[in-house]
Amino acid sequence: MNLAHQTILVTGGAGFIGSELCRQLKTAGAQLRIVDNLANGKQENLTEILDEQCQLHVTDIRDYGAMESLLQGVDYVFHLACLGVRHSIHSPVENHEVNAAATLHLLGLARAAGIARFVYVSSSEVYGTAQSVPQPESHPTYPMTVYGAAKLAGECYTRAYHRTYDFPTVVIRPFNSYGPRSHHEGDSGEVIPKFLLRTLAGKPMVIFGDGTQTRDFTFVSDTARGIIEAGLAANTVGETINIGSGFEIAINDLADEVRNVTATPNAEVIREVDRPGDVLRLFSDTSKARSLIGFAPRVSLNEGLSALLAWYQSQGRTPDELLQNEVVKNWEVKP
Ligand SMILES: NC(=O)c1ccc[n+]([C@@H]2O[C@H](COP(=O)([O-])OP(=O)(O)OC[C@H]3O[C@@H](n4cnc5c(N)ncnc54)[C@H](O)[C@@H]3O)[C@@H](O)[C@H]2O)c1
Repeated sequence: MNLAHQTILVTGGAGFIGSELCRQLKTAGAQLRIVDNLANGKQENLTEILDEQCQLHVTDIRDYGAMESLLQGVDYVFHLACLGVRHSIHSPVENHEVNAAATLHLLGLARAAGIARFVYVSSSEVYGTAQSVPQPESHPTYPMTVYGAAKLAGECYTRAYHRTYDFPTVVIRPFNSYGPRSHHEGDSGEVIPKFLLRTLAGKPMVIFGDGTQTRDFTFVSDTARGIIEAGLAANTVGETINIGSGFEIAINDLADEVRNVTATPNAEVIREVDRPGDVLRLFSDTSKARSLIGFAPRVSLNEGLSALLAWYQSQGRTPDELLQNEVVKNWEVKP
């Protein structure tokens, strides 16, 4: 995709997926305005791409005066800024304010600024536990957490702006993503980085519940490419589109994959109480993305886990050092 002479504003661009999205957009030639308050993102996620054409604005998306100015002269918006699922368990109101209410404000500001495409990055968490699999976009939405509910509200506002005002929007529903720069720390910590780092540090992997819950894991370069291609294609305005791998794996089996990739066949697993509001089954039907934009993931789970392992090994820090900010039951306390 050639994005030369296009100015793109990315909210949440210093985060895990956002920083990969920004790298890919920059490679395609775009000028970038990255908005992130660094609540969970890091400037170092963007180090090699920041320059005159690619600027980070350390701004809260709820600073609507600042957002109004930043949106002037922008062609496309990718809206990823949000607070995560475990954050919603200890701080539901703030989670709603950032994930849902701020999305509605941004839609209004973006429309007033004449933005040519507003891409809302939602989440597979809007589905809740799968009622049938694989899950097409028409699967019922029945979120388990305030995070899922707030992401669904953000989606509904985005579609409403398209239907009511003919504003050109696209909603993307990524399934669980992993890869370099993914979170293991605090309430952002995700299962794959935690399993890998704990195994490398000789600590047991911790499974919440019986480990039969499933996910559809997508490597971050595939997630970001899917968001860009689905977000900007000519035939996707008004659409809601899953981006996943189309491969379902139980958390117990994920632990085996981590043992394989780290060559630690005896790595231990311990079991803990269920996480409140945990979704028990997620498995993406990717046929809409395939038929609309020809999307197919390129990185298998084994390749992606190996790439993440290599990335950790290139960081110049031991797994124990990296794990310092890990919180095991990371939904219980504010970091
Ligand atoms: N990681 C996944 O597996 C996954 C799966 C489905 C959907 N998503 C969606 O993808 C997007 C990115 O997720 P991620 O995993 O990269 O998370 P992330 O936490 O790394 O990124 C979110 C970014 O938003 C920023 N942010 C939070 N509140 C803000 C505010 N008030 N103002 C400005 N910036 C703020 C954070 O600092 C962070 O950099 C989110 O919208 C999320 O819902 C992620």
